[in-house]
Amino acid sequence: MKKTVRAHTNIALIKYWGKRDEELILPMNSSLSLTLDAFYTDTSVRFDETKTEDEFYLNDVQQTGSSLKKVQVILDLVRQQSGISHKAVVESQNHVPTAAGLASSASGMAALAGAASAAAGLELSRKDLSRLARRGSGSASRSVYGGFVEWQKGTNDLDSHAVPVDDADWDIGMLFILLNKKEKAVSSREGMKRTVETSPFYPSWVESTEQDLIQMKDAIQNRDFDTLGKLTERSALKMHATTLGAVEPFTYWEPDSLVAMELVRTLRSEGFHCYFTMDAGPNVKVLCRMSEAKELQRHLASRFGEDHVLLSGIGEGLKELS
Ligand code: ADP
Ligand code: DP6
Repeated sequence: MKKTVRAHTNIALIKYWGKRDEELILPMNSSLSLTLDAFYTDTSVRFDETKTEDEFYLNDVQQTGSSLKKVQVILDLVRQQSGISHKAVVESQNHVPTAAGLASSASGMAALAGAASAAAGLELSRKDLSRLARRGSGSASRSVYGGFVEWQKGTNDLDSHAVPVDDADWDIGMLFILLNKKEKAVSSREGMKRTVETSPFYPSWVESTEQDLIQMKDAIQNRDFDTLGKLTERSALKMHATTLGAVEPFTYWEPDSLVAMELVRTLRSEGFHCYFTMDAGPNVKVLCRMSEAKELQRHLASRFGEDHVLLSGIGEGLKELS
């Protein structure tokens, strides 16, 4: 049986940065994200008794090496749970640049978890889909749901999963300033590992993030956009600060990332409701009021070019297409 599932990317407002268990992908801190409709992945899976190896095609190109291995983590878990032993054919289309800090791994692994489990005949709950997606990539656990989503760090494999927080249907959007679509030099997986192991700033990150998350959930409940935005910027800046203390130190920022962040601050001082965030790449994302988004987009595009500023609304959770 071939199954096709769509998952949207999500961007964390309170970042996941660091694992306490590398194999199970259990995080050091809980995180909170927004699921977006503009970027997504469609993945089809079928288990095929005639195949002698798993095959993974990403945007029509057959993948080998670490990219295939990550997919096999999910396939093996599904085979274990379903008792199926056949190899699988996985075909995935990313409607999002791959490995550019735009969360292709989040939508990719969530879509894979959905399609592989359905193709194997498993009828998993959302919670178990989130746990399965987590094993492929931590941030993927959150793409199972739409709107604002919290990934609760939990205490073990069973209780570390995402939960929906709010549908975000209160005048919220996100702009993406695409500065560089190239694959990044330090993956999020490697970057967070190096930071946990070597950065003296890391313990303060974990300690302070717990409080940020509580405050952000309050802000969401009260629909307090400006507090939400301030906490979003704070979390991103703190996460990126930890990388500067790592051995070897590294940063995802490029000169234009700083220009973009400064422009967001300027536009805010002019009255726009806008706050930046950044992930494991140079691109800058801007949390904004949807009602102001088009005007903001024009301002940002006049500096970075029309093709480089994209707008997204709020995305929904995993969806079976066929
Ligand atoms: P990003 O910022 O795009 O998430 P990462 O370096 O965290 O970058 O993850 C990129 C990796 O995620 C790819 O190299 C690949 O291994 C995996 N990935 C991306 N898209 C998919 C997909 N559609 N299906 C399975 N794995 C994917
Ligand atoms: C900066 O989920 O890509 O985007 O679990 O190792 O696959 P792995 O990492 P990944 O890391 C995401 C890091 C981040 C912050 C976030 O999305 O919360």
